[in-house]
Amino acid sequence: MNKKYHRIVFLTGAGISQESGIPTFRSETGLWNNHRVEDVATIEAFYKNPDFVHDFYNQMRKDLINKTPNPAHLALTELQKNFDGEVYIVTQNIDTLHEKANSQNILHMHGQINELVCLNCGKTHTTWGDSSSETTCPFCEREGFIKPNIVFFGEMPLYMDKIETLLKTCDLFVSIGTSGVVYPAAGFVQTAKYYGATTIEINLDMASNNFFFDKHIYGKAGLELPKFIKTLL
Ligand code: OAD
Repeated sequence: MNKKYHRIVFLTGAGISQESGIPTFRSETGLWNNHRVEDVATIEAFYKNPDFVHDFYNQMRKDLINKTPNPAHLALTELQKNFDGEVYIVTQNIDTLHEKANSQNILHMHGQINELVCLNCGKTHTTWGDSSSETTCPFCEREGFIKPNIVFFGEMPLYMDKIETLLKTCDLFVSIGTSGVVYPAAGFVQTAKYYGATTIEINLDMASNNFFFDKHIYGKAGLELPKFIKTLL
């Protein structure tokens, strides 16, 4: 008989959305679309050339708006509906496919593509439309402070206090489709394991922080995750 878990934390990365037709970051046709990371995903680039960065994410918003969840996202929703306990999804993905799959308890630690944040008043708002250095904040009504709500290199990931509490109190931690090279997410498995959780990885191949996982399931998330989730119900 399976161990009974009470609080499960899933960490998802680009690999869970690969079967929805979204390229992962570190693949040959990576998500940065042949741009240098330094030009589109750092806070320095944003301050230096905001409209270039706005345009890059405007295009990404257009690319992502019609993407749909795959069986891996849907399996997490199924688990949340039927599991007698708590299920959290900490995602590094900005694509909103967990929302489109109707999942709950989602923490977007790297932000999300359909949100803009105002660097003047700190408030965020939702849009699938374009933004630019001339966009006005609907709250403080200042122009020139709007930024895509994406966590760039050089910025703090979001919801870290809540995530740390979850990692220390969960009894099962499952990492899906992440290469384990970008911190702090890459270190989550270590925290969860240290505080006593069972740790499992689902990936095409071994992630760089594989040492801390109790078990590896190799294969496509869309195939392996629904099978694994059946064992939890
Ligand atoms: P990566 O592109 O680094 O890694 C994707 C992982 O998914 C790899 O380990 C692949 O083996 C695996 N993978 C690919 N297809 C899969 C499939 N169908 N099923 C299961 N696994 C599959 O993406 P992330 O680890 O998510 O941050 O990247 C982490 C962060 O790096 C991103 O959130 C982004 C980037 O910097 C920011 O932009 C702040």
